[in-house]
Amino acid sequence: MSIASSIPHTFTRERRQPWLRSVPAPSSPVEALAQPSAQAPTTTPAITVPAVVAAPRVPTCHGTFVEYANLDHGASTPALASVVAAVDKATQTYSSVHRGQGWTSQVSSHYYEAARDEVARFVGARESDEVVFTRNTTDSFNLLARSLPRRTQVIVFASEHHATLLPWEARKTTRLPVPLTHKDAEALLTEALKRATSSSTLVVLSGASNVTGEYWPIERLAAIARKRGARVALDAAQLAGHRRIDLDTLGVDYVAFSGHKIYAPYGAGVLVGRADWLDAAPPYLAGGGATAAVGPLSTTWQTGPARHEGGSPNVLGAVAVAAACAAIRENRGAVEEHEARLATRLVDGLRAIDGVETFSIFGDDADRAPVVAFTVEDVESSLVSAALSAEYGIGVRDGKFCAHLLVDALLADEEAHVTTAVRVSAGLATTTEHVDRLLAAVATLASQGPGVEYHQVEGRGWVPVDDQRETLVDLPW
Ligand SMILES: Cc1ncc(COP(=O)(O)O)c(C=O)c1O
Repeated sequence: MSIASSIPHTFTRERRQPWLRSVPAPSSPVEALAQPSAQAPTTTPAITVPAVVAAPRVPTCHGTFVEYANLDHGASTPALASVVAAVDKATQTYSSVHRGQGWTSQVSSHYYEAARDEVARFVGARESDEVVFTRNTTDSFNLLARSLPRRTQVIVFASEHHATLLPWEARKTTRLPVPLTHKDAEALLTEALKRATSSSTLVVLSGASNVTGEYWPIERLAAIARKRGARVALDAAQLAGHRRIDLDTLGVDYVAFSGHKIYAPYGAGVLVGRADWLDAAPPYLAGGGATAAVGPLSTTWQTGPARHEGGSPNVLGAVAVAAACAAIRENRGAVEEHEARLATRLVDGLRAIDGVETFSIFGDDADRAPVVAFTVEDVESSLVSAALSAEYGIGVRDGKFCAHLLVDALLADEEAHVTTAVRVSAGLATTTEHVDRLLAAVATLASQGPGVEYHQVEGRGWVPVDDQRETLVDLPW
């Protein structure tokens, strides 16, 4: 794998804004939970966004129950209520897809194909594009990687999620360094394309970083790729739930995303794009459904999406994805406004806390989804996320977020022992109370440390000493 070299890169540590006061640290976690928002806008009109299933009440280590503050949408979102309703309805006629003459099989087959149409509409697919149902984004990119014409050269930025960075054959892949600015990204890509010698080149881009939430300049990068005759694949795992996608406008050839990141957690994802490479590739899964004819010595494979959907299709997963796409598409303005408010509140609030460092690729002012990666001085990231859960009922993620090269680059200037960060990611389940609870909790952690004693438990990480919560879990079946 060639790693392209570039100008030396250093990364932006976002500066605290001196005019923003720190969120006052509450004197106890209980007070933190009860504290009214210090920044709550009194005149901001409410926005109605599609409803998610009601947040559960979760136990804290203090023996109380609080409404779960889900600030981990970047990993998996909760289900939309309309998605659950659609799946419930489809369950009533649940049957095989494209495998039976029974009425319910006909209905299920109709739902499955209609789900493709909704996904196509959601991403602004071209008439000739194929919509293939997969398990998730990782599955989609592995399918695309197996469908590339021989000798296709792949160009990808090192900042990508591993699902987008790793499926490509290493010796045919050029990895570009993490850029500092949009212009830098354009320059790096232009140079790499000039050096590309293969007749077929694929540029793989992310719509939004899963670490920092920053949006990438897809339209501009895709235009550069197209000018050189390269195709473009877009990882929309962190984009699809937040911003409109239009393949034609963006100049993108393929797009992939996961149902479980757009409020449709029923095991389906999608790959949408140009049919020619997909139809010429060996079937992703050999088996029933992918075949047109089977003889003793030969097999003729289907063309179209069925070629890569061997085995019985996940019709409920497809229905869920389609229902989520429809709900988001029909409420796009409200979703974007809700998330813009959350992003501002999160970013400004975290930057204002002494001892908190937030990170970005493109600089402080970069447009972003409501996602922020940060560290707390002198408190390990894994302890921060454990304390947020145990003491405050807040769910976040810590670590390197399956984007090791990006996190290593972002933390390069930190003390040697700081190798991981905390990520908060908001979405439709997030309220301003959740954000304010997080800000108050992080302020307390930064100024006073955790409120109870923790120890490391194998397989679980940091756990409060004398944690009673595990005994409260009932199995769902
Ligand atoms: C940007 C990005 N791409 C790809 C993936 C992989 O998605 P999945 O795990 O659903 O395959 C993720 C998951 O976090 C992601 O954030």
